[in-house]
Amino acid sequence: MKRFPSQFADLLTPKGRRILEGKDKAVSGALLDPARRFVALQGVVDVAKATACRDALDAALRDLVVPMEDPIPVDSISGMTMNYMELLPKTVRVRTALLENRRSRSWKAAEAVGLTGMLRSDTFAGFAAAVSGRVLRRNWGIQVLCYGPGDYSGPHNDHHPEEAEARDGYVDMHLSLTMPGVEHQYLVYEKDHHLSEMTRVSTVGGLTVYRLPFWHYTTPVVARRGAEGEARRWVLLGTFLDAAPKARPASVVVPPGQPGVRSPVRVA
Ligand SMILES: [Fe+2]
Repeated sequence: MKRFPSQFADLLTPKGRRILEGKDKAVSGALLDPARRFVALQGVVDVAKATACRDALDAALRDLVVPMEDPIPVDSISGMTMNYMELLPKTVRVRTALLENRRSRSWKAAEAVGLTGMLRSDTFAGFAAAVSGRVLRRNWGIQVLCYGPGDYSGPHNDHHPEEAEARDGYVDMHLSLTMPGVEHQYLVYEKDHHLSEMTRVSTVGGLTVYRLPFWHYTTPVVARRGAEGEARRWVLLGTFLDAAPKARPASVVVPPGQPGVRSPVRVA
């Protein structure tokens, strides 16, 4: 009973297809601009198809996601010895499906609904390559998050200085599939060294593409009154590392239109 298409391209609207094919001048390679760390796209994923996928995903995984919680450290106030020197590590409360373990029930459920196949499709990575404008490594990470009422992530920057492949930056792409019980959830992000920008992420089929690291946080899910039990925002994530300069062509995903390399675009 697969509900997700095997290719991400099959979820796209004509506008989304143009981006995938590198024909949308405003979006193609948008994240190559060092001043632009983040793109939020609407009207790119077909809302009716996204809604059907969301409902299948929710039915398959809502009882299998596991809590992931990093609270504010208990001594973050009592341990302070100087005024104004508070430090807040990344805090988060969300649930996640463990898609890396093929023996887990959540992997089997995600596989049955077609989710893992779509997240592994070359047009999913191709879309990230098109918006980021970068040649990306073919082995990308996938993840599913489920934000319920009050779930959030606190301010953080996703910098990984200990990992050579990620320390100079990497690309994340998120597809939001929000249940009707959610009133709102926002992403707040930095501009000119302030957390001053905000975009609503409680969408059905909204895509956000990031050139990390940069400072951001996700506000708590607020449920519609009386709909707390059905207030979930699902997020499908891909995490893409930059390809090494001399990587084999078979090991990379290239942005559309790059000379001498095969485009991931497949026309169904
Ligand atoms: Fe983040």
